[in-house]
Amino acid sequence: MLEAETEVNRMDREQARRRAENLREQLEHHNYRYYVLDDPLITDAEYDELKQELSLIEKRFPDLLTPDSPTQRVGAPPVEELGTVQHELPMLSLLGVQEEEAFRHFYQTCCRELGRSEVALTCEPKFDGLSVELIYENGRLVQASTRGDGTTGEEITANVRTIREVPLRLQGDRSQMPAHLNVRGEVYMPIPEFNAFNRKQEEKGEKTFANPRNAAAGSLRQLDSSITAARPLRIFFWEIAPSSDRRPATQWECLQRLRELGLKTNPYSERFCSPDKVVEWFNDIAARRDELPYEIDGCVIKVDRLADHEVLGTRAANPRWALAWKFPPRRKTTTIRDIQAQVGRTGALTPVATLEPVNIGGVQVTHASLHNQDEVDRKDVRIGDAVVVERAGDVIPHVAYVVKEKRTGKEQPYRLPGVCPVCGGAAGRPEEQALVFCMNASCPAQVKQSILHFGSKHGLDIDGLGEKLVEQLVDRELVRDPADLFDLKVEKLCQLERMANKSARNLVHAVEKAGQRVTLPRLIYALGIAHVGRATADVLASSFGSLDALSEAGVEELRDVEGVGDKMANAIWTWFRDEHNRMLLRKLKDRGVDPKMETAETGGRLSGMTIVVTGTLESMSREEAQEAIRREGGKASGSVSGKTDYVVAGASPGASKMNAAQQHGVKVLNEQQFLEIL
Ligand code: IVH
Repeated sequence: MLEAETEVNRMDREQARRRAENLREQLEHHNYRYYVLDDPLITDAEYDELKQELSLIEKRFPDLLTPDSPTQRVGAPPVEELGTVQHELPMLSLLGVQEEEAFRHFYQTCCRELGRSEVALTCEPKFDGLSVELIYENGRLVQASTRGDGTTGEEITANVRTIREVPLRLQGDRSQMPAHLNVRGEVYMPIPEFNAFNRKQEEKGEKTFANPRNAAAGSLRQLDSSITAARPLRIFFWEIAPSSDRRPATQWECLQRLRELGLKTNPYSERFCSPDKVVEWFNDIAARRDELPYEIDGCVIKVDRLADHEVLGTRAANPRWALAWKFPPRRKTTTIRDIQAQVGRTGALTPVATLEPVNIGGVQVTHASLHNQDEVDRKDVRIGDAVVVERAGDVIPHVAYVVKEKRTGKEQPYRLPGVCPVCGGAAGRPEEQALVFCMNASCPAQVKQSILHFGSKHGLDIDGLGEKLVEQLVDRELVRDPADLFDLKVEKLCQLERMANKSARNLVHAVEKAGQRVTLPRLIYALGIAHVGRATADVLASSFGSLDALSEAGVEELRDVEGVGDKMANAIWTWFRDEHNRMLLRKLKDRGVDPKMETAETGGRLSGMTIVVTGTLESMSREEAQEAIRREGGKASGSVSGKTDYVVAGASPGASKMNAAQQHGVKVLNEQQFLEIL
């Protein structure tokens, strides 16, 4: 029995109640340090230990369980429908403008109506998410709702409780807690998390979202809060509503107060007294928009003194004390010149629209994905249509909707062809599939894509194997499948366009090296099995340990692997039954490409070590670095302690982590050194 379990079993009810209370306070504080301040005091393992003890107490004394217990962040039982909430005071919307002139006009009006020559303004980014209202009674979260129509919103308390950045209890002295606090903010999904989430959804064959805002809204309005719990949602708070106790005198102080209470605010907010300074700040934020890991669609400028809000009042549901100064939109209207089918690695035919080129948020957009035939039909997209195209972060531009009012009658409906546009082979839609596939496994388009995928950054990472080169290799029949890459000879390569002797030698060397150093998860990913992305390749590798074992696994066995559903299990099983693919595996093995999984027991290079990654690495994301650590048998931790073996520091490392490393005498590795030990 665990030590904590023995301890808990010894407690009487009163002792358990007190200990549970104490644990909740501690956990909430550590949560705040981790999620809001990004400066944890304890390791993940220590946090888990505290949480485990609390769970044990709550299991033994179920009546001691409270809805604001940190153990409840996993979600509550599903509901039939979301309830409704009447907002104490309406959640207004803002007047939106796009021109500097309009902002200056707003400033002058405020000065005039307030009878002052100068007015202080608090300036904040305008977050593009879903606005929510949270009520805290005596420091505890009791209700959360969406904005809805401004007067009535949907009740989403259970869902909001799963967001780690939302404190279930406020920080600070209990005696100082406002009895009633109504705060508002924006729930959002960060762009990198959104991209990763969409990739995973696609791999699983499940619904993807058009942009981070829709993903946040869809995730927050779930009937089953355990689904929300699995979604990477975050929040920025921007208001203490007038119905709250002990509201400060200015918006600027409200933001400070929010922070003190443990409610996350955005670091870019500023207070200015001069309109010129506001313009400067606005231009600066606009220039940095693409660097931010979350979507903002403008800035909100607010008269700082709250008493002035009463004086200025509202007009047509818009407060006259605030203004939304918007950036140029990331949606533009343009025309579809043509729609063509592109053939992907798995043979899937994707309809892609060729557009009348249009500049969206500084990027020239010429193509937009239409995903599949169902999407074309659902949106009723036709060649010649005027369409609204959307671009968010680094997501591929897509058609948001058709402007049907602009139709002339000459628009042409589109159907994916019945033959492959590249090889002319038959194309069809297998039962229960949303996609049309080219059935010819030797289709040059598929072969090219699968070779590119094989050598891609997260596959074998073959230096110099770009699109143009692969085109030539396949067109000249030097390469028919990825294994042929290992047979390439310098003399043959030299006959290709723009291929000097040195580049040819480099390529042969790069292929050879990639084959020697490839790990099992990378090779599984590189094979390009439908629905198998990096995360799945990782679990498959650790579950089966070798390609042989994976290729012999039955559907049942595959389905037992965490994160592998029916669809994926079938796809994997079918892939390994295909004669073409079996031949590819044999050829790879013959050429010495047959890695085995190194587990902690068989001595992964980092076996038994705890490593913390901080800052930005050049060659991989932090997530990938952590995966690599785990793959080599190590533990990737989020905080530095005496038990940490190494801190890997990229660019702009976290100050608290570097300090802790120094304090505990932990060796700090730069990226190069880290790559070497990997
Ligand atoms: S203050 C009286 N501040 O923009 C309304 N709103 O049209 C006060 N939003 O529904 C809103 N970031 O969802 C405010 N820093 C911010 C905001 C913000 C995003 C959203 C919010 C609101 C909409 C206003």
